[in-house]
Amino acid sequence: MSDAAVVCGLGGALPETVVSNDELAATLDTSDEWIRTRTGIERRHVIKPGEATSDLAVEAGRRALESARAQDGTAPDDIDLVVLATSTPDHPCPATAPLVAERLGLGGVAAFDISAVCTGFVYALAAAASMLSAGTARRALVIGADTFSTILDPCDRTTRAIFGDGAGAVVLRTGHAGEPGELLGFDLGSDGAGAEMITVRAGGSRQRSTGLAAPDGDQWFSMQGRAVFTEAVLNMSKSAQALIGRVGWAGEGPDRVVAHQANVRILRAVGDQLGLSAEQIVVNLDRVGNTVAGSIPLALADAVATGGLRPGHRVLLTGFGGGLTWGSTALIWPELATVPTHIHA
Ligand code: COA
Repeated sequence: MSDAAVVCGLGGALPETVVSNDELAATLDTSDEWIRTRTGIERRHVIKPGEATSDLAVEAGRRALESARAQDGTAPDDIDLVVLATSTPDHPCPATAPLVAERLGLGGVAAFDISAVCTGFVYALAAAASMLSAGTARRALVIGADTFSTILDPCDRTTRAIFGDGAGAVVLRTGHAGEPGELLGFDLGSDGAGAEMITVRAGGSRQRSTGLAAPDGDQWFSMQGRAVFTEAVLNMSKSAQALIGRVGWAGEGPDRVVAHQANVRILRAVGDQLGLSAEQIVVNLDRVGNTVAGSIPLALADAVATGGLRPGHRVLLTGFGGGLTWGSTALIWPELATVPTHIHA
C-alpha cells in the first residue's frame, strides 16, 4: 500500500454574473476607491437566484476530473471518495457532497462535507489525503465551494465588498513518496474562543430557525473585520512557518505561496512575515474576491493559467477562517493538464 496522496487534477468554476465595485457603490455607502485600496478587490462573481453551491461544485469537480483524465487517464469510475468543503451547503441537512457525487455520475462513493469556512479546502485535503494514506480510498475528488452571496446582509457594505461566489477542486490519487504533486504534510489548528468573530448566529441548534425572521439580522453572516485581519496574518504566518519547518524547506523556502484570498493587505503582510517577494505571493482576489472554501483551489487554477505557478515550484498553501481555523500544506507543483476555469452560465 502506498502512503502518498498526489494531486493529479485541478479545476475551477465561477458564476456568470460579475458585480463590479461601482455596481456595489450604486446601492451601498462605499466606493470603488475604498474597496480597491483597503482590500485589493475590483470585482466578484455571484450566483443567480435559483442557483446553489452544488451547481458550482459540480462544474469545478467536472473540470478537475477532465484535468485528471488528460493527465493520467483517470476515469469517473476510479473516484471512490468526494470531500466537499463548504459553509453554504445547499441545505442544512443532508450534506451536499452526496448530491454532487451523484450529479457527476460518481454515485455510490463515500461523500461528506467539511465545515471549516475559509480553511475548509485545506481541512478537506487533509481528510482526503489521510483516507488515501490509510487505504480507505484510492482516488478522491476534493472540492471547495461557497456562495456567500446567499448569506450576506444586503445592507452590510463591509462583507458585501469582500465576498464572492466560486468553487475549485482537485483530484488526489495514491502515489509514491517523492513524486511531484505529493502533499508533503499538514499543519492544522483552531481556536473556538474566536468563534464570534466570523459567524451566522441563527439557524443552528443554539439559535433555532423558527420560520420567523431572526432578531437583529442574526440570519446574516457577520464578521469583526479588523480583529479577523490581525488573526489571519498571525495564524497563516505561524502555520506556514510551522509547515515549512516540518517539510524541510527552512533553507530555501517556498517558491510560491497560495494563501486564502481575503484581502491583498493580508497577503502582503503574510509575505513579509515569510520573507517573500510580491511575485511569490499568488493573488487573484482582485477578480474574484473572497470565495471562502473555493478560494485556494481557484487561486491555484488562476496561477497555473497565467503562468505564475509552474511545474517544479515549491508551493505552500495556507488558509485561515471562521472557527477560528487555520491550516497549511505543501507540494512540489506537478505537470498538470489544467483546463480554464469554467464560467457557469
Ligand atoms: N466602504 C466604505 N467604508 C467601509 C467599508 C466599505 N466597503 N467597509 C468598512 N468601512 C468603514 C468602516 O465602517 C469604518 O468606518 P468608521 O471609521 O466610520 O467606523 C472604516 O471603514 C474603517 O473600518 P475598519 O474595519 O477599521 O477597516 P479596515 O481597514 O480594517 O478594512 C476590512 C475592513 C473588512 C476590509 C478588513 O478589516 C479586512 O479585510 N478584514 C479581514 C476580512 C477577512 O479576511 N474575512 C474573511 C475571513 S477569512
